[in-house]
Amino acid sequence: MNLGHGRELDAGEGVIGLSKAEYPPLPDSIVSDPLAGRLDPRRWFRESARRFEIEIGCGKGTFMLNVAQQNPGTNFLGIEWEGAYYAYTADRVRRAGLMNVRMLHADAVEFLKWRCPDAIVDVIHLYYSDPWPKAKHHKNRVVQDRFLEQAHRCLVPGGELRIVTDHDDYWAWMEKYFARWSDGDVKPFERCAFAVPEWVGEGQLVATNYERKMCGDVKTPHATVLRKPVEG
Ligand SMILES: C[S@@+](CC[C@H](N)C(=O)[O-])C[C@H]1O[C@@H](n2cnc3c(N)ncnc32)[C@H](O)[C@@H]1O
Repeated sequence: MNLGHGRELDAGEGVIGLSKAEYPPLPDSIVSDPLAGRLDPRRWFRESARRFEIEIGCGKGTFMLNVAQQNPGTNFLGIEWEGAYYAYTADRVRRAGLMNVRMLHADAVEFLKWRCPDAIVDVIHLYYSDPWPKAKHHKNRVVQDRFLEQAHRCLVPGGELRIVTDHDDYWAWMEKYFARWSDGDVKPFERCAFAVPEWVGEGQLVATNYERKMCGDVKTPHATVLRKPVEG
């Protein structure tokens, strides 16, 4: 994929990009023990006791660079499954010298399910997730029960899943899942208003590459926060 950088990307393996030693393949014992692949991603950071946030689908990495620069006391894990975008973001992070960011080349939904321990993530950021517009591809959408279940499990009490999309049909789909997960007698999540970070410029919600290119005056994105209650 040509991302217009015109030079070799260096993902900084072992420093920014996760090395194979740090992120080994799932063990064979996963077949009998579904927890056998769990590891603690906070250990990938020099100061592992810090607040820990995940961005799913970093694309070209502008949100990651900004949020990590603005919050130097928080550790951020970016998970991107498209190799070229993973390398592009990791290269930008490396050149910016941000030591509070690690990048993982993987499917974030699978990462949460098989790798991530319970109650360790303060915020999961999911911005402009691929809408997979054709009905036969809807099964690929990130937001569905299996993801919300894992996101809920991995978040700390009081932790937040922050979501923004400009895709009306995907938003309608999401709303059905949000209702299931935040309405009724049992409420795994509390639904909250999306707070725009202070550092984001006028007329934007998260200032990702996609948002800057596709939204602005043309489209008003949808946004919400699902908060895991402190109790329960
Ligand atoms: C439409 S782009 C948006 C990128 C970025 N968030 C932005 O707003 O500019 C969606 C990105 O999410 C990535 N992605 C989609 N599903 C993913 C998954 N399950 N795990 C990790 N990355 C994923 C895609 O490769 C793509 O880079």
